[in-house]
Amino acid sequence: MLVWSKKYSIGIPRLDADHVMLVSLLNQLHINLAEDMSGEAIGPILDALQHYADGHFIIEESMMTDCGYPGLAGHRERHDGFCIEMARLCLKHRARLDVARSLRALLNTWLFDHVVRADGQFGAWLRANRVSIPPGASSGPDVRRPVRTPATAATATATATASDRRFAPA
Ligand SMILES: [Fe+2]
Ligand SMILES: [Fe+2]
Repeated sequence: MLVWSKKYSIGIPRLDADHVMLVSLLNQLHINLAEDMSGEAIGPILDALQHYADGHFIIEESMMTDCGYPGLAGHRERHDGFCIEMARLCLKHRARLDVARSLRALLNTWLFDHVVRADGQFGAWLRANRVSIPPGASSGPDVRRPVRTPATAATATATATASDRRFAPA
């Protein structure tokens, strides 16, 4: 189990609060795996993660836009990559493949490689350049992208890998 600590903080309270939620979902996944729950049981975790990613990425990118963050384009590509990976796992889950281990690997990597490192770079850039996030930066409709829809999922394919066991007959 992971316990949220300051070492994961990027120094932006709203984004840190979201990242705490990501850790809690990762912990929920650990529990499911430790208790060897059915592959079907991760459905709600997948749903929560998709909801999380849709909301969190829009707010984070909105802040970056408002602050003129030069790393926005590359950062957005990483968010898109995560969404495509999530869509693939959701398709596999719907095809009744057990994706719990694949999902745990994705989230572990995401937490340390993206949240701590890439999101952390945004926080560090703000501090180094003495840039403040404008009030309401997360609510400006002009900088928001539409919520990612199943259209994203349609670009992914449900190809089984060695780590994905079928959890029940279809
Ligand atoms: Fe983030
Ligand atoms: Fe990010």
